[in-house]
Amino acid sequence: MKRKNYPLHIAIIMDGNGRWAKKKGKSRVLGHKEGVKAVYRSVKFALINNIKVLTLYAFSNENWLRSPLEVSNLMILFEEILKKDSLILNKYNIKLKILGNKKKLNSTLQNQIKISESLTSENNGLRLNIAINYGGRQDILSGLKKIMHQILSRKLNLNDIKEDSFASFLSTKNLPPVDLLIRTGGNIRISNFLLWEIAYSELYFTKVFWPDFDQVSFSDAINQFKLRKRNFGK
Ligand code: FPP
Repeated sequence: MKRKNYPLHIAIIMDGNGRWAKKKGKSRVLGHKEGVKAVYRSVKFALINNIKVLTLYAFSNENWLRSPLEVSNLMILFEEILKKDSLILNKYNIKLKILGNKKKLNSTLQNQIKISESLTSENNGLRLNIAINYGGRQDILSGLKKIMHQILSRKLNLNDIKEDSFASFLSTKNLPPVDLLIRTGGNIRISNFLLWEIAYSELYFTKVFWPDFDQVSFSDAINQFKLRKRNFGK
């Protein structure tokens, strides 16, 4: 059932784990662990509210510049979650996809990603995308290189490349455009997330730190979205 003024695809920049931890006198790693609870709450919210696609920004191309300890703790956390929760995702008919360049991830995480994605690949419920080692510019560039390759090998004609066909070379291929982009943590910026895909998204920024983002905060964002008049440039 299509609901009027309801977002089909929601993307979230989950920011503020570190500041949440600092405020409570805890370590940044603990902030990320608390952030995982907010991920579970958001997935549950998406299921209950029949949101079709939820895309979460977990690790950017630039996040490698953080301390080696924080980076390795995050990588361990991603692997643990995928290992622990893939069966539950499957049980709830969720189709999981990891967006971003997986080549730089360690081999055990890459393996776990393959296992989790293939386990859930036939599901047709919520589409849950988690961006790990993702950057919007890098994704566009990588798509462009694939297109160039096809043109040079004469599989594709330059004049046949339209917006839709270009989008099919991005890691978000086959996903509907993002209706609502939420950023928590108080910063008003995009930070190289989904640049192509948010061309006509509604943007919602909240000061709430990610570990505090709950059902009420999520509903607030959706209620704001419902009030927006979208005209897509018309
Ligand atoms: C931003 O907070 C958060 C991150 C870079 C990591 C987000 C990861 C999680 C919440 C774990 C989720 C796991 C999965 C599998 C989805 P920050 O560290 O930038 O906070 P700060 O701006 O306050 O320092």
